[in-house]
Amino acid sequence: MNNIKINIINHPLIQHKLTFIRDEKTGTKEFRELLEEIAMLMAYEITREMPLEETEVQTPVGPCKCKVLSGKKIGVIPILRAGLGMVSGVVKLIPAAKVGHVGLYRDPETLKPVEYYCKLPTDVSERELVVIDPMLATGGSAAAAIELLKTKGARNIKLMCLVAAPEGVKVVNDAHPDVEIYTAAVDECLNDHGYIVPGLGDAGDRIFGTK
Ligand code: PRP
Ligand code: URA
Repeated sequence: MNNIKINIINHPLIQHKLTFIRDEKTGTKEFRELLEEIAMLMAYEITREMPLEETEVQTPVGPCKCKVLSGKKIGVIPILRAGLGMVSGVVKLIPAAKVGHVGLYRDPETLKPVEYYCKLPTDVSERELVVIDPMLATGGSAAAAIELLKTKGARNIKLMCLVAAPEGVKVVNDAHPDVEIYTAAVDECLNDHGYIVPGLGDAGDRIFGTK
């Protein structure tokens, strides 16, 4: 864990749910539900610093000076497929967010990401983007997705994942030092197939019930 820059969100509810999501006995339905819940809790944590501005409303009793979000525009960018499992949790909390999609799969031989889809909000350069993907393994997919967003004009990007390997965090830190990474856990290492150990297995397969 030396020389890696990462924000670990260790809220007890997240850590509790993460335990069950890791468990191989957890089936597709429960896995999806837990992933949605964790994504929502993580979104709550990473939006802590969102700027507010003053406003005034009239309560039934009188005028009240209070605060609203100061119009910061958010974009949520799931990396297909597994990132899709986190979208509903995030947009429940940030319903005005626009959602862009980046399709990447990891070549099983080379472990390098292969791009197959990209559809983004037109104004990505004005938005605060949150790239979401449960797994940060070699870091190839996340680094490539962030690079793609930057070529489309994005300037303000965060990466939110569920489980990260130190190797992947380092790759993203090195390639994109401006991108803050948020995760619920940093695990031990990668195995010979590029899977996170102990991780949770193949996130896409567990969300969608494919094998
Ligand atoms: C998984 C995962 C990440 C990627 C992480 O996707 O959801 O996108 O692997 O690995 P990396 O950090 O080594 O690039 P996968 O390629 O299995 O595709 P899927 O989501 O469609 O199953
Ligand atoms: N992708 C996954 O879904 N799981 C891993 O452990 C690594 C990459």
